[in-house]
Amino acid sequence: MEPGRSGHDMDAVAHAASALSVDGVNGPRHVAIIMDGNGRWAAQRGLPRIAGHEQGTENIRRITHAAVNLGIEYLTLWAFSTENWRRPVDEIHGIMRILSEAIQRETTELHRQGAQLRHIGSLEGLEPGLRAGVLDAIELTRNNSGLVLTLAFNYGGRQELLAAVRDIVSAGIPPGEIDEETLARHLFTRDIPDPDLIVRTSGEHRLSNFLLWQSAYAELYFTPTLWPDFGPEHLRAAVEDYARRDRRFGGIKSTSPVLSDS
Ligand code: IPE
Ligand code: IPE
Ligand code: MG
Repeated sequence: MEPGRSGHDMDAVAHAASALSVDGVNGPRHVAIIMDGNGRWAAQRGLPRIAGHEQGTENIRRITHAAVNLGIEYLTLWAFSTENWRRPVDEIHGIMRILSEAIQRETTELHRQGAQLRHIGSLEGLEPGLRAGVLDAIELTRNNSGLVLTLAFNYGGRQELLAAVRDIVSAGIPPGEIDEETLARHLFTRDIPDPDLIVRTSGEHRLSNFLLWQSAYAELYFTPTLWPDFGPEHLRAAVEDYARRDRRFGGIKSTSPVLSDS
């Protein structure tokens, strides 16, 4: 605690900080979530892993609502990694089917709410129905100005960086002209800001090849809660935690509302 401040005052200040976070003033603009723990959620209930993926996909709707209510402008959700192809073929097919059905089912409502759907990763090699569903949803919602909801699917950070390097080389850009902007412009995320906050559920403390370039200055938040159990109150807790942090980007200026009242 800071000198000269009572516990009561600190509570009030912390509350003010959390209130600020809720109206988007001090909260993260872009939250990216590593939706992990579906398999363990199912195992805890004696269910097949696929039941965890069903429940995890259901959870996307309520978290999307919660994100809008918290003033989040960009929500990125990681549903399938380039390394997840190592899983048993039945599980992979099940995940594809569930995602395909969810996109068919949810797009109209997301469109009605003004959300703009995007995809990062590769659509190559995916089942044609899923690929078409994703492309249709992107096309339908492309002019919407509400939440930018990015589905990271068949996404890997290293693959994204490799693809960017290949594009830059084939465009013949001279080495001396390649700067950070050039690289960022060749990533899948070229149109969206870097994530302010990356949340990972299920207690793992790693990025597992997620947004490697874009996460350079992201705040990281790890929670033991399994993804299907991660509700609006958990998202709010993550956002409030974020709002209390002091992001310095290598500098020394304090931007924390808790510390900058003198
Ligand atoms: C996350 O849950 C979903 C995917 C990676 C597709 P998991 O399936 O990894 O669940 P756990 O980690 O085995 O519990
Ligand atoms: C990361 O989770 C990928 C997604 C949540 C989509 P994994 O379960 O695949 O990650 P590892 O294997 O535990 O690192
Ligand atoms: Mg996992």
